[in-house]
Amino acid sequence: MERLYTAVARLEKELAVSAILLQDIASRFQEAMTEGLAGRSSSLKMLPSFIGSPTGQEQGQVIAVDFGGTNVRVLLVELAGTGRSRIAARRAFPLKDKLGHYDYTAVSASGPELFDFIAGKISEIVSDGGIYPLGYTFSFPCRQQGVDKAVLINWTKEIKTVGVEGRDVGQMLQAALENRGLERVRLQAVINDTTGTLLTGAYSDSATTIGAICGTGHNSCYLESCHPLTKRPMIINMESGNFDGVQQTKYDILLDQASEKPGAQRLEKMVSGQYLGELVRLIVGSLAADGHISSGSERLSVPYSLPTEDISAILGDTSPELEVVAAVAAARWGITGLKVSGYKAIQTIARLVAMRSARLVTATWAGILTKIDPGLVCQHTIAVDGALYEKMPGYSEQLANTMVEMFGDKAKQITIRLSKDGSGIGAAIAAATVYKGKYCNER
Ligand code: BGC
Repeated sequence: MERLYTAVARLEKELAVSAILLQDIASRFQEAMTEGLAGRSSSLKMLPSFIGSPTGQEQGQVIAVDFGGTNVRVLLVELAGTGRSRIAARRAFPLKDKLGHYDYTAVSASGPELFDFIAGKISEIVSDGGIYPLGYTFSFPCRQQGVDKAVLINWTKEIKTVGVEGRDVGQMLQAALENRGLERVRLQAVINDTTGTLLTGAYSDSATTIGAICGTGHNSCYLESCHPLTKRPMIINMESGNFDGVQQTKYDILLDQASEKPGAQRLEKMVSGQYLGELVRLIVGSLAADGHISSGSERLSVPYSLPTEDISAILGDTSPELEVVAAVAAARWGITGLKVSGYKAIQTIARLVAMRSARLVTATWAGILTKIDPGLVCQHTIAVDGALYEKMPGYSEQLANTMVEMFGDKAKQITIRLSKDGSGIGAAIAAATVYKGKYCNER
């Protein structure tokens, strides 16, 4: 029978993204961009945002709603107009109650119920009187029909609320606000979170040409210097999580087949926080099924029983006995009493899955950079938000190192930077861009 270390070595090969593969993925990605932009069939949706780069002078107090997944945030953002911003108030709330009292993400919830819940949270942050421009980040693939009109193409991140796909989510939120007597909160812009991240980066750093989320979901957008529709610069939401140019392993295929939408979001299912824990569970499960480690309780066969935060904890464990890995394995799957080599195998799997994610993401960014600036003659900042980038040990370093591996010395032209709260602040910048500062004097 194959020994544990042979099995781990086999996994190392299966999950490796070699230098050749990186280049290959980058050029496939670039081709998919060209096809999508020209309106031909492509796994990249290349959705127009109807927004270009900000000037950095946008000013005022704006309400921002950041609907990124199962958590929603409502912010009161103050834009100083000098490339600086401040969050003056914030509320964060889950759409799914831990104790099971409500779940607005389930198939039992309707669109109007979901948006009424969000409108209720907005009402908690606005004081009496005055007009509030509203910027709305909605982090799902939308067919944008104007800066404030966005029709949800399909839910991602395993959300199932009925009656929202195919509808204008901006209009649904505005209607919910009006039903609560909040007409003075006026929607100006609906954007994707990647667009928000790019706008926030570009507000203070005009070299920002790419915005990306490496969190629960994954996606990137970029600044197209001459959009075919308007012949002007425009941010394009690529919906790159749907990119299908990467070879899947058998674990990716298993995960995909059991997911809410098989075949869709193939890259996202290989790289984002929603799925990394599940990939690790499937791989550890296969080691257990082959008798390499004890299979613990039946909890190891429960889908999504390993949250991404636990991967971060596993990767951060430097203790000789791998105590954190042991605690996670026991708590999540009932796996106990392994030798250190067993825990080491679990940690290696987590590392392989996480680092593969970072390498694949970098390859897609390399594809974008090569398309917009083939000789890499300009400086480029990639603004990134999301828990993987911010919190997962080794993730941001892997992104930067892979960039150097791909571009050598020219990687000096590329800065990858955290755009903290970028998706929410970006919604405010987008709204201010549209509203052009008039609201500052209206209250
Ligand atoms: C969505 C994107 C979003 C990304 C990051 C994906 O599931 O389709 O629109 O930008 O997650 O939140």
